[in-house]
Parts: sequence; structure tokens; C-alpha cells
Amino acid sequence: MTVKKALIPAAGLGTRFLPATKSMPKEMLPIIDTPVIQYVVEEAIASGIEDIIIITGRGKRAIEDYFDDSPELEMHLAKKHNTELLKLVRDVSSLVDIHYIRQKEPNGLGDAVLRAENHIGNEPFAVLLGDDIIVNDKPCTAQLIDNFQKYGRSTLAVEEVPYEKLSSYGIIKGKPLNDSLYVLEDIVEKPSPENAPSNIGAIGRYVFTPEIFDCIKEAGTGVGDEIQLTDGIRLLNNTQTIYACRFEGKRFDTGDRLGYVKSIIDFALKNESLREDVLEYLRDILVTVDDPSDK
Ligand code: UTP
Repeated sequence: MTVKKALIPAAGLGTRFLPATKSMPKEMLPIIDTPVIQYVVEEAIASGIEDIIIITGRGKRAIEDYFDDSPELEMHLAKKHNTELLKLVRDVSSLVDIHYIRQKEPNGLGDAVLRAENHIGNEPFAVLLGDDIIVNDKPCTAQLIDNFQKYGRSTLAVEEVPYEKLSSYGIIKGKPLNDSLYVLEDIVEKPSPENAPSNIGAIGRYVFTPEIFDCIKEAGTGVGDEIQLTDGIRLLNNTQTIYACRFEGKRFDTGDRLGYVKSIIDFALKNESLREDVLEYLRDILVTVDDPSDK
């Protein structure tokens, strides 16, 4: 059985990006000219996903509008014969069929996943967090789906996490099978660094068997008074083997301010029409920053 459905939770409050997120979803923050969530949707499509559900909430209308047709804008661009921009705008709305489900309150990632239970049904599915971008020729989600196809079991994407950031992640204890794969032994949500079972954390990509839904329900409320996906994973691990995969690729946590800045610099340096000018600017600015007479 393969994975055809994906869930993109995008209903969080994005408090690390206040005040911007008072009136705009953090998933719509642009990496130069493209909102973060477009990269996430493109990764899902490139991984063979055919049905995407975005979990939204209050103040997230901009996401639905973004992936919809924009008749007035298209008419304006057509009148001006701006065929290049017209194509760009139309391409976004014809990417894939997207369904939207609202999470009434941001009660945690586990709760966001639960909202899609009826739509997903009794099938395996992928979860891609709406604020993580992962760049790699073979998409991270496709790597997880490969592992699911091999073992028929849920698979989490993991990577090494710096010590001071351990308390922001679900941290795993795993038995290594090879260089890139662990069998999950335990996972702890947001441990204090001294109590963390390792320095390997789950990032924003997962493939789940549908049994995860009952496990999330059974787990109930956890850390921060939220329904935590990690607690559901823990329970699922009691009855089914779960794998943790050290994916190939570079991840940008755009929900974090420094991660967001890094993503813009990286994408600018990869963009042919920007690269040289940005490099020149960075060189100039670095000289000034390093010059003590400037302080
Ligand atoms: P985060 O914890 O990074 O998002 O959740 P947040 O709560 O919006 O951010 P801060 O900490 O307040 O700045 C990761 C992903 O899960 C979604 C978020 O939208 C984000 O894409 N999420 C989180 C939900 O959909 N619902 C929730 O209740 C919580």
C-alpha cells in the first residue's frame, strides 16, 4: 500500500512571529517571493501525494486564497500581456486538489492531526508541518514513504538537534538499524536537555499508519496543556514498530526567526538573478560589522 494523502497542519498561532502573525499566517511568510507553505505543498506533490488537506484556523484565510484562482489579478496581468507572471499565478492554483479543515482552537499538533481523521480514513498518510522547508533532490517525504513501503510501518524524519534546542523538540531514543535508520524505542516531548534520551529530534515530516488517530485520542492532553502528537506516537509504539529516519536534505525551520533568516539567505544565494548582488552585499556588510571603528 502506498501513501497518497498528506496533511499539512497550519493552524498554530505563530507567536514567535508576532506582531506579523496577528493578521497573517506564519506559513505565508515569503522566502523572497514564495510563501513557505508552497514549498511544503510542492514537496508533497513531488513525493507522489495526490490529496492534500491543510488544517487551518482563525486568521488563516490567506492560505486558502493563495491556492485559489485569482480572477481579477489574472485579468489584469492578461490585459498587460504579462504572460510570465500570469503563468506563475495560474500555476499556483493548479498545483493539486487541496481540502481545508478548521481546527477551532490551536490545541496542539496532535489535535490538528485528529481533525483530519474522517478525511484520511483507514489509510496511511503523510504529515508535513507547514513551517518546515526541506531541500533535497529526493524529497524528505518521499524518503519516508520509501521506508513505509519497505516495512509497512510509521516513520518519522529525525535529525541532530543542538543541546540548547533539545527542549523544543520531540527527542527520540532509538536502536540503530543502519547509518540512517533507527527503530524507535521512546520519544519524549520537549525534554530538559539534561533529561533528553539523545540529541536526535523529530522534525516536521512523518508517515503514519491510521492507528495513530486512536493513539492520539487515548493519550489525551500532555505538555503545555496541548494534545501532543508525540504522546500519540509513544502509544502507537507500544503496539507497532515505528522507524526514525535520518533524512537526506537541508532543513529550514522557518517558524523560528533565525531559521527564517537563514532560509532567505540560502534561497537568495541559490537564485541566479540574485546571487551575485546578494554576495556583494554580504561581503560589504561583513566588513562593516567586523570593523571596530563602526561601533
Ligand atoms: P509550532 O509549535 O511550530 O507552531 O507547530 P506554533 O504554535 O504556531 O508556533 P509558535 O511556537 O507559537 O511560534 C508546528 C506546526 O503545527 C501547526 C503550526 O501551524 C505549525 O505549522 N499547529 C500547531 C497546528 O496546526 N495546530 C496547533 O494547535 C499547533
